[in-house]
Amino acid sequence: MRLPGQRNPPGAKRAPVASHRRSGRLPVYVAGVFFLASVFLMFRDEILSLTTTARSSPPTAGSSAGDGLPRREELSVKPVLRHSGKPERHHRVTERHRKASAKRPRKKATKAAAAKKTSKVAARPGPGVVDVPETCDLSKGDWVFDNASYPLYREEACEFLTAQVTCMRNGRRDDGYQKWRWQPRDCDLPAAFDAKHFMERLRGKRLMFVGDSLNRNQWESMVCLVQPALSPGKKYVTWWEGNRVIFHAVEYNATVEFYWAPFLVESNSDDPKIHSIQDRVIKPDAIAAHAGNWRGVDYLVFNTYIWWMNTLNMKVMRPTGKTWEEHDEVVRIEAYRRVLDTWATWVNHNVDPARTSVFFMSVSPLHISPEAWGNPGGVRCAKEEAPVRKWRGPLWVGTDWDLHRAAANASRAVTRVPVTFVDVTAMSERRKDAHTSVHTIRQGRALTPEQQADPATYADCIHWCLPGVPDVWNLMLYARIMSRPSPPSGRRV
Ligand SMILES: *[C@@H]1O[C@H](CO)[C@@H](O)[C@H](O)[C@H]1NC(C)=O
Ligand SMILES: *[C@@H]1O[C@H](CO)[C@@H](O)[C@H](O)[C@H]1NC(C)=O
Ligand SMILES: *[C@@H]1O[C@H](CO)[C@@H](O)[C@H](O)[C@H]1NC(C)=O
Repeated sequence: MRLPGQRNPPGAKRAPVASHRRSGRLPVYVAGVFFLASVFLMFRDEILSLTTTARSSPPTAGSSAGDGLPRREELSVKPVLRHSGKPERHHRVTERHRKASAKRPRKKATKAAAAKKTSKVAARPGPGVVDVPETCDLSKGDWVFDNASYPLYREEACEFLTAQVTCMRNGRRDDGYQKWRWQPRDCDLPAAFDAKHFMERLRGKRLMFVGDSLNRNQWESMVCLVQPALSPGKKYVTWWEGNRVIFHAVEYNATVEFYWAPFLVESNSDDPKIHSIQDRVIKPDAIAAHAGNWRGVDYLVFNTYIWWMNTLNMKVMRPTGKTWEEHDEVVRIEAYRRVLDTWATWVNHNVDPARTSVFFMSVSPLHISPEAWGNPGGVRCAKEEAPVRKWRGPLWVGTDWDLHRAAANASRAVTRVPVTFVDVTAMSERRKDAHTSVHTIRQGRALTPEQQADPATYADCIHWCLPGVPDVWNLMLYARIMSRPSPPSGRRV
């Protein structure tokens, strides 16, 4: 598993001891710690491959050239036609959903909310009506095969997808992974992503994803979801203005952006293109250099997780330190809490709640231990063609739930600004079938047939194929944003 030239992480020996101390607290921790320890070395390899694929982003505007694959043709009118043909189907699906949900007992949504929903739908049927109750927990539910409504766009219809995520184009044969709808237990997600309505909401505004390559994965999905609302030639991507990638929606004077800050705070891995660094060091109290770029953004979507999984301890620069070498090792969860405390304080003091909506995406899980879902003969996530279904009890795929809880807690700790914690972890843990696996690129190149034949070494079970799971995460964001009144822009508090 180990890549040539890779060193042992200095923290690897000590850290499990620190974790064992905590394992007496709850029985579940025993299993958790066991899994964290057993997948630890694999994580390290995964994350090294992650950093190399991150480098391969297309360097030029609106092109997927730099990835070593043939350039995509310009967008034809096809997806636009498909889009304009959608409302009819959307309506039909909405009708079906409504019937289905009428049969289902609603545990959380109040009668009043249900009544309000029904009357609103009856008064103003059709696309664009989104009224998902704020109290409905979207994280609890089931994956339902739905090849009528999914995928939400076609892989070949989105010119902006990078070769990292176009799994079918990279040789994947089964496409079932694109066709699962998430059905929350207590309410319905919108049946479709209505790009025109969403772009109306975004008119004159900026939506920015801030974080690591999983958030970039989600940014790519969002670009594909909104782009059918835009005319050819009126949409383009500028790659890397500083740490930003910017999708421009010219007709709406709006942008959908991604900002590279894998730890949110400053670190030695902040170069968006060259950050394949063995020993990652963070400055847990320094956020201003990044955060200056987040000011005035209307929708901020944060995440930070995968880079924390590289080692059990985090290297933290000393307050008096002048160079990255001057650091201490801190237990992962403690460093994570400190960082999120810094983040929460910044949001509290710098975000205008009348103008800006803040979201925090929960942990995106990995699938590198097939024993965890009862497939001991499997090789990581390779050849998995269906979600985990009918599984009782917790699914131990190696998620660090301590970090998950800390992020939820930090989101609640921001008192002046409401932060929506978007919990996608447990639902995504079931999607062992949806990672890019060997149908991706590595160091800017498509995997060779030999590499594809060796998933134990080369399968990427961190990132997700598109169309796929991140589209559903974005549908959750869409549901939250579109169910709320549009904030008056420009108001100051
Ligand atoms: C959807 O799936 C069903 C069952 O697998 C199949 O019979 C049907 O042809 C599929 N429809 C489409 C549009 O792919
Ligand atoms: C375009 O949007 C920006 C905010 O992103 C705003 O400052 C600017 O005034 C807008 N321009 C027009 C012409 O509406
Ligand atoms: C939750 O957040 C509060 C406020 O930031 C902090 O004091 C506390 O330690 C956090 N608890 C956990 C379990 O992370």
